[in-house]
Formats: sequence, structure tokens, C-alpha cells
Amino acid sequence: MAILNILKEGDETLRKKCRPVEEITPRILQLLDDMHETLEVAQGVGLAAPQVGVLRRIVIVEIGDKKYEMINPEIIATKGKQEEIEACLSVPEKYGLVKRPAWVKVRATDRNGNIFEAEGEGLMARCFCHELDHLDGTLYIDKAIEMYDPDDIEDAE
Ligand code: NI
Repeated sequence: MAILNILKEGDETLRKKCRPVEEITPRILQLLDDMHETLEVAQGVGLAAPQVGVLRRIVIVEIGDKKYEMINPEIIATKGKQEEIEACLSVPEKYGLVKRPAWVKVRATDRNGNIFEAEGEGLMARCFCHELDHLDGTLYIDKAIEMYDPDDIEDAE
């Protein structure tokens, strides 16, 4: 396992469209393991492969005891809307208000090559949308209605 370097906004890799995974190779499995370790150290809730410099359609999401590894994920259904504050490990020291669906269902492939579906609301729904956006080179700052500095967030609390 290894802790990977997380690319920061301004790196053009974050703006590229990722290619689908065609075969789950030992290298892909290693990448998933390394992404988990990296996310744990970074204390985030989600990480997409392009954030660690790999232009493949892979994301991981870890919220509480729910942990997902998603290969070639796609949003297949959404309901409602929500507006909440997001942050991104690739955009340090910033926050932004983003409009997302209230509920999202994703279809993806797991590390064993099986297709599965996962659904979530609230933070989980936002995280699915945010991470999947990374696979198309989109950052939440592109969609944010308002951006904040850490001071603004502290003042609000
Ligand atoms: Ni992000």
C-alpha cells in the first residue's frame, strides 16, 4: 500500500475526461487499496482516480461505516434537490455551496467485476455526484453558487 499524492486545482490532469476501466488488473486493485489508504490519511469522504493522477473511471466513497469502491460508475436515477456546502481534497482551504439532487442511485462495477447499485441521500448523494464529476474533469467550484474561505465557515458556526 502507498499514500498517493493528491493533485491540486490548477493541475490539468484534474480537467481531463477519464477512460473506462476495461479489465480489472492487479494494478487497478493496487490503485483501489492505495486510494483507501490515501483517503484515510487525508480524512476525506471520497476520492476519484484523477485526483491521484490516474485518468480512469474509478472512485471510492467512505462515509461512516459505508464504504464503496466504484469502477465505471454511472448515475442512473436522481430525486429532489439539496443545496449544501462542499469541499474537495484537490481544492484546499475552500468551501462552496452546491446544488445537487437530494437522492442519487449509482450503478458501478466492484473489484470482483460484479455490477452493483448503491443509493444515498444527503451527504452520500452529494459525495456520489461530486466524485463522479471528477471523472469528467468537473470540479465542484465550477458549479458552486457561492464560495467561502475557512473563516466564513467558522463565522457561520
Ligand atoms: Ni473532490
